[in-house]
Amino acid sequence: MSTQLVDDRGLQVEEILSAFDLPVGGTVSGVAYGGAFIPDRTGAPLETCDPSTGNVLAHVSTASEVDCSSAIAAAREAFTSWRSVPAPKRGDVVRKLGEAFRRRKEDLARLISLENGKILSEARGEVQEVIDICDLAVGQSRQLYGKEIASERRDHRLVEQWHPLGVVGIISAFNFPVAVPGWGWAIALVCGDTIVWKPSSLTPLISIAAQQIFHEVTAGTEAEGIFSLVIGRGSDVGEALLSDDRVPLIQATGSCAVGERVSAAVGKRSGRAILELGGNNAAIVLDDADLRLALRAIVFGSVGTAGQRCTSTRRLILQRGIAARFLEHLMAAYRTIRIGDPLDERTLMGPLVSEEAVDEYREGLVEIQRQGGKLIYGGRVLEDRAGYFVEPSIVRSRAEMPICREEIFAPILHVFEVDGLDEAIEVNNGVPQGLSSGLFTTNLKAAEQWLSARGSDCGIANVNAGTSGAEIGGAFGGEKATGGGRQAGSDAWKGYMRRQTCTINYGDDLPLAQGVAFPVE
Ligand code: UN1
Repeated sequence: MSTQLVDDRGLQVEEILSAFDLPVGGTVSGVAYGGAFIPDRTGAPLETCDPSTGNVLAHVSTASEVDCSSAIAAAREAFTSWRSVPAPKRGDVVRKLGEAFRRRKEDLARLISLENGKILSEARGEVQEVIDICDLAVGQSRQLYGKEIASERRDHRLVEQWHPLGVVGIISAFNFPVAVPGWGWAIALVCGDTIVWKPSSLTPLISIAAQQIFHEVTAGTEAEGIFSLVIGRGSDVGEALLSDDRVPLIQATGSCAVGERVSAAVGKRSGRAILELGGNNAAIVLDDADLRLALRAIVFGSVGTAGQRCTSTRRLILQRGIAARFLEHLMAAYRTIRIGDPLDERTLMGPLVSEEAVDEYREGLVEIQRQGGKLIYGGRVLEDRAGYFVEPSIVRSRAEMPICREEIFAPILHVFEVDGLDEAIEVNNGVPQGLSSGLFTTNLKAAEQWLSARGSDCGIANVNAGTSGAEIGGAFGGEKATGGGRQAGSDAWKGYMRRQTCTINYGDDLPLAQGVAFPVE
């Protein structure tokens, strides 16, 4: 890199970080509770890097187990008053949060692009996803309704109501550092819960910036302290959060391995968990599909976010009639993908998030080929430049290869050929994960079979739309090893509240249900 380029990057980094008062190369606190950052914490030191250059952006002082416990105590304390604030008033706070994210959209998007490495357009989309979920949550704050059920007993009313649950622990991943936690906090806050957030250690500055926004909006109001941040190691801070009885619900996003640990720890104390774990998403293209449309969706699904979405397209299932032609077009489209600086508007694929992610990509490709997969596109780590850049890859695989059952969190697309829809559905469903899936066809019967009970077994099933890029209005999540949790829209809010069934007797008698007689004088 020329000195000029280094200097330009340096200026750019400084400008992006200064929008949130973050000093380049300095140390910032990754712990906040009670409405303020707590400096000089004693957790394991953390440094965060620019994945486009590998340079250190800043150092973060992180939480210890004790800090985590203090943050939970503060959130619990805040809960005792927040739960009594009328829900629409809580919605008003979330409305202000949404407005603040709107105002800071560009600043935050640039920071996301810098620290996470996703391209600017996707980073903007991610902040938009927070704004959208805030809008939804504001409306939801006036729609937290229960049901009235017909009672079998005379002069009795049987109703169901929903109460705030308590402190919600949010464990989030690097790949959607604000949107996915946002699905949780926006809804949980209107439901009357308070939050302890443990974000990924790969994207600490983004979460610190988001925490600053929470502080700006809530300072001096009754909402102060509803949001705590604990950046720290999973092995201490994460475990402390999972095992703490004062946290009735954990929302966790991560790999299937992370999910197993969360389930075990939370299950042990009979807590609740909303899990969004690995995906191994397939797109199917039938012979009768609109191929241009399918191509665009599949390129976005497999190359977008450098293949680092839970919803990324990892498996492409082609019907034999169009397979060769489609693959040719796909490779031609891959050739046009501009890989580079995610902050450059012309770039379509930024770096992977870290050195470890590059290792996962490299080792994944070696193993795929060892198991008989054939690399037909890409496969190279771009070692001639700094940062964690790789080529998007396409491999011809066989569905029976054990590695096709695993999620490799990198831009690697397996391609399989099938005879028809039945076989395609079998391949789609034949993996442990069940997050997202998409079928491309113009045949109504095929589309409906795909959406029927004998079709896709995933939490998300699309027709003529790709596997990634869901809207927040629907419930988001997946089946099987993906964890079964649902977040964001539809009635996902119910997961963040406790349901209470109430029987009210307004008569003078005491009839027992099921006709039981129990005469006492
Ligand atoms: C994730 O990758 O964890 O549907 C979430 C999508 C985005 C969210 C992805 N709206 O691709």
